[in-house]
Amino acid sequence: MNNNLANIKKSIFFLNKKECVAIPTETVYGLAANAYSGKAVRKIYSLKKRPRNNPLIVHYYGLNLLKNDCELNKNFFILYKKFCPGPITFVLKLKKESLISRIVTNNKKSLAVRFPKNKLSRKLLKLLKYPLAAPSANITTKISPVSKEDVKEEFGNKIKFILNGGRSKIGLESTIISLVDKPKILRLGGIERARINKALNKNIRYEKAKKKITVPGQTKLHYSPGIPIKLNTKKSKSNEAFILIKKRKKSCKNYFYLSKTKNLRQAAKNLYKILREIKNKNYKNIVVEKIPNIGFGETINDRLKRASGK
Ligand code: TXA
Ligand code: MG
Repeated sequence: MNNNLANIKKSIFFLNKKECVAIPTETVYGLAANAYSGKAVRKIYSLKKRPRNNPLIVHYYGLNLLKNDCELNKNFFILYKKFCPGPITFVLKLKKESLISRIVTNNKKSLAVRFPKNKLSRKLLKLLKYPLAAPSANITTKISPVSKEDVKEEFGNKIKFILNGGRSKIGLESTIISLVDKPKILRLGGIERARINKALNKNIRYEKAKKKITVPGQTKLHYSPGIPIKLNTKKSKSNEAFILIKKRKKSCKNYFYLSKTKNLRQAAKNLYKILREIKNKNYKNIVVEKIPNIGFGETINDRLKRASGK
């Protein structure tokens, strides 16, 4: 049997037994479990050490199962047609008759849903009779994983199986947009704001989480490598890890390049990989060169600010 198919079958075996399986997506790897089963999703919270009041994103193949769970509106269909499957998460009104476990939503009346693009995960979702709740496959507040090896580093042998889908193509989490009321962006991510504005033909508000947190995961130190980070820095000391957006003529051992030529998409893809590498090399300090605050640069700056506790 084809190796991928065998691994998908193995994933189904564990998921049907209400166990957690790590799955590849184009954004980051997810820690997945049957979203209809309280028993299964409880394991996600405990493995991730995630507070129960932080709801999970549910992953679907398409609209078939989703129709039973959420109210779908015009803005949803516009964005779904344009960007799905892809790195965008919709917060929608939850239907009363939905089978989604209340532990997934923390009893909220809305549900975050997404249609990941990775081929293996799509095949898996297509074969299942339930959608998959899947937060990023990292311990809460740590760096999100972008490869099978990263997931291993986070959980060791504590999870039953990792479906290997190679390196995540986008490398940063999905953009979250709430469509419950007037559309608003809750988290910057894999789709640039300008593209969403264009699709909906208006300027969509971006609501950064303040004191009253709409997105509980959007707290300080959420993407933290556990090392102090200083942004907008021109120089570094030799014992500091220096993250640069563009390759320099003269390189040093402590320089880490997000891209060769200031390509922001490439930089986004490399960000978590580099943060993890720096952490593993035991640097005590990170300084970062100024990164243009446009397109993916906005998302990179957002993650770096969070990681630096700003
Ligand atoms: O790219 C992604 O979105 C990845 C991959 C695995 O799909 N998933 C991901 O999940 O980033 P997680 O749990 O790490 O982040 C999801 C965020 C959390 O901050 C959570 O608070 C928020 O989504 N969220 C979940 N349900 C919500 C809801 N009903 N309303 C508002 N925010 C919600
Ligand atoms: Mg996360």
